Amino acid sequence: MKTFTNALVALGALATSVAASNPIVAKGQDFVDSVTDKRFMVLGVDYQPFGQGADLDKADPLSNATECLRDAALMQNLGVNTIRSYNLNPSLNHDECMSIFNSVGIYIILDVNSPAANQHLDRSDPASTYTKAYLTHVFTMIEAFKNYPNTLAFFSGNEIMNDVESSMANPPYVRALQREMKSYIKNHANRTIPVGYSAADVRSVLEDTWAYLQCDNSDDGSDDLSRSDFFGLNSYSWCGSEATFTSSGYDKLVETFSNSTIPVFFSEYGCNEVQPRTFDEVPVLYGEKMTVMSGGLIFEWTQEDNNYGIVDAYHNGTVHLRGDYDALMQQYSGLNITLIENHNNTATSLKPPKCSAGLIGDNGVSKDFDLPSVPDGVADLISNGLPSANAGSVVPVTKTKVDLPVYATSGGEISGLAISPADGSNKPGKNGGLTTGEPSAAPSGNGSDNDASQTGSGGSSPTGSSEGASSTDSSSAAGKAVVANGAALGAVLGLALFAL
Ligand SMILES: *[C@@H]1O[C@H](CO)[C@@H](O)[C@H](O)[C@H]1NC(C)=O
Ligand SMILES: *[C@@H]1O[C@H](CO)[C@@H](O)[C@H](O)[C@H]1NC(C)=O
Ligand SMILES: *[C@@H]1O[C@H](CO)[C@@H](O)[C@H](O)[C@H]1NC(C)=O
Ligand SMILES: *[C@@H]1O[C@H](CO)[C@@H](O)[C@H](O)[C@H]1NC(C)=O
Ligand SMILES: *[C@@H]1O[C@H](CO)[C@@H](O)[C@H](O)[C@H]1NC(C)=O
Ligand SMILES: *[C@@H]1O[C@H](CO)[C@@H](O)[C@H](O)[C@H]1NC(C)=O
Ligand SMILES: *[C@@H]1O[C@H](CO)[C@@H](O)[C@H](O)[C@H]1NC(C)=O
Repeated sequence: MKTFTNALVALGALATSVAASNPIVAKGQDFVDSVTDKRFMVLGVDYQPFGQGADLDKADPLSNATECLRDAALMQNLGVNTIRSYNLNPSLNHDECMSIFNSVGIYIILDVNSPAANQHLDRSDPASTYTKAYLTHVFTMIEAFKNYPNTLAFFSGNEIMNDVESSMANPPYVRALQREMKSYIKNHANRTIPVGYSAADVRSVLEDTWAYLQCDNSDDGSDDLSRSDFFGLNSYSWCGSEATFTSSGYDKLVETFSNSTIPVFFSEYGCNEVQPRTFDEVPVLYGEKMTVMSGGLIFEWTQEDNNYGIVDAYHNGTVHLRGDYDALMQQYSGLNITLIENHNNTATSLKPPKCSAGLIGDNGVSKDFDLPSVPDGVADLISNGLPSANAGSVVPVTKTKVDLPVYATSGGEISGLAISPADGSNKPGKNGGLTTGEPSAAPSGNGSDNDASQTGSGGSSPTGSSEGASSTDSSSAAGKAVVANGAALGAVLGLALFAL
């Protein structure tokens, strides 16, 4: 027992002193680790436990360290290196959660907007919603997350342009917003933090939107702060194991983005029309054919009404892994990490074209590069900073063992679940080994609790349609018998602990 305690203390010390994530920078077409200079591909999941409609007054997805520790351990095992959170409350304390994810090499890309009034640009009336009140909210978000080394990037907007109509008035506002955000970061953060946009997969306006946002709008070659540092795409075009590189239209994406001078990645992917999901797009996305793209984020971590979850999470803190979790891990574990981290000098030295109307096709996307001016009162905020901002910072991570019950897809309780603090970004196959002793089934979704309800909306994005999606959790697993057979994992983790 004494040895065990000492080992835990040693593990805690390791956590506080060694583990850290290196800031990521955008360089030409790639994300790159600013310290190791290796390419960083996004291996991600979208993370909004209890859905878009969750009440953020007292808690948000990054405010409860007990739950973050549980999820970080499961994500470390899965092989994830990035999460995306959509709705965060900047006045809450995120230090523990961000530090836990930091200690295991998991980065966060966060949306600075929320559905609340004065906290987003209204696509039907951007002029009247681009205000000091709105930008104050945006800067508050930047303050809250700017100090964490694992803040990978900020999304300026999600699917603001979602059809031809909204693609005329809005693009200049997105660039103006990015200009204000990047000016604020330049003045008040101690490093560059990439800022970019998350687009709907509306193919008629997609290429023009990207062309509009990636070009250089400066007159004299000086730093163009309104330019996107990356381009996220919410894409659900690959459905099921019958789909291919061409049938999914991935070939078209590669063609479109082959000359991209900024990183392009899926900010959401993982069509759920064919169940169970087998994630056959994963080896293609991270394979030789698609090195032009920088990976993507699976939609999404927890099961909600729209049926995209890879785990079931309950309000009592219990989590049940779904078959989708196993299937995704299986796909991740086959990836070629050497290829993923391969740094290509041609790709990283690509320079953007000068902005001009000629870059934009005739599909209805704005050709106007004369941007809206900085709203009244905002220049002062950009120069002097927010007077009393709640700026987070990394804290020591001393607790590594997960206290909440977690059940494997087989139904067996997983014991000994813990994070293992590690240097650098998390990788698939590095951890593995969450087994409850059941014979390892093929990732067929057998044992997963997919209920029959599906969105039926196919290729469209679950975040695009409404801000107020319901936040009820699935209870389909509630009736399942739970068999405790987690001895094998406990033994594995126990050994690792003593080996330290
Ligand atoms: C930036 O600030 C963070 C948090 O205060 C600190 O840990 C880090 O060392 C600083 N980085 C640089 C380059 O000054
Ligand atoms: C990419 O750039 C090359 C060289 O400038 C050009 O020949 C090619 O047509 C471009 N491809 C696309 C899809 O724009
Ligand atoms: C954090 O989550 C756990 C598990 O869901 C819950 O028991 C606890 O009350 C939460 N803590 C706070 C401060 O809300
Ligand atoms: C992994 O990718 C590297 C770099 O492209 C390549 O040299 C190597 O052969 C690949 N390994 C496998 C097992 O395919
Ligand atoms: C390097 O990146 C460029 C731009 O994406 C691409 O055209 C080229 O094929 C890549 N080279 C290798 C060896 O991957
Ligand atoms: C699970 O596997 C069993 C045995 O192979 C099979 O009979 C059953 O139909 C499968 N269930 C699902 C949901 O795939
Ligand atoms: C938590 O809630 C779920 C769903 O209602 C239930 O299946 C599970 O037994 C509960 N866990 C505990 C520890 O109460």
